[in-house]
Amino acid sequence: MKPAVVGQPVVRLAGVTKVFGASGGGTVAVQNVSMEARPGELLMLLGPSGSGKTTLLTLIAGLIRPSSGSVSLFGSDIEEIGTQQLQQLRSEKVGFIFQTFRLIDSLTAEENVALVMRFARRSRAFRKRRVDELFVLLQIEHLRGKFPPSMSQGEKQRVAVARALANDGRLIIADEPTANLEAKQGSEIIQLLHRLAIEEDRCVIVASHDLRLVELADRILHLEDGLIQRVETAA
Ligand SMILES: Nc1ncnc2c1ncn2[C@@H]1O[C@H](COP(=O)(O)OP(=O)(O)OP(=O)(O)O)[C@@H](O)[C@H]1O
Ligand SMILES: [Mg+2]
Repeated sequence: MKPAVVGQPVVRLAGVTKVFGASGGGTVAVQNVSMEARPGELLMLLGPSGSGKTTLLTLIAGLIRPSSGSVSLFGSDIEEIGTQQLQQLRSEKVGFIFQTFRLIDSLTAEENVALVMRFARRSRAFRKRRVDELFVLLQIEHLRGKFPPSMSQGEKQRVAVARALANDGRLIIADEPTANLEAKQGSEIIQLLHRLAIEEDRCVIVASHDLRLVELADRILHLEDGLIQRVETAA
């Protein structure tokens, strides 16, 4: 039996709404969402294209600010801490796998992964050890010296996963992390995310259409038009 999820929430949203664009005529991407996620929990966001999954993940990570409502990360309200403090908190504690990867084209795969560790002020020795470990784990050692423009989508996706794990963040957010992978590689990433939650007590939040995740998630938030329509909890 899976142990009960305990501990203080890693993230807490209360009545969060996000409107993009001009007031009045803007797009309401997320509407009045309240939720919490705790260490050891694997949470899945499921919903059609345009339902607000990416917007909700970026709100959860403190990458964008809500139009109304509040977001707390590791017990701090993001409106109450300075921009620099928020950046530091994010770089040390949050790993984000972006839907579009957001790798830096002018840096090699290895440099992309090392860069986030420099931002988090990790030592040179730590960076080297971590790059070695992650490139073996994700089976991307052959990509170390390659630049993103000459990589396939699936290769970029695995480098993006390595980067998200580099700082050992307690909160791992993944936006469609298997969308560009073949079946076997996709399964491995899903198993990896699952292990991070159950074995390493991290909080893992994943937006995905991948039905293999449905089996493993502790909770599934069904989004539609920016609203949480339904929450499913694992038996
Ligand atoms: N930066 C932005 N400016 C304006 N509108 C935006 C912006 N980002 C998202 N939207 C709009 O907000 C809504 C939700 O978009 P979002 O990207 O969060 O959906 P999604 O569920 O992630 O979709 P997909 O499955 O295609 O990735 C959409 O109507 C989208 O057009
Ligand atoms: Mg999206």
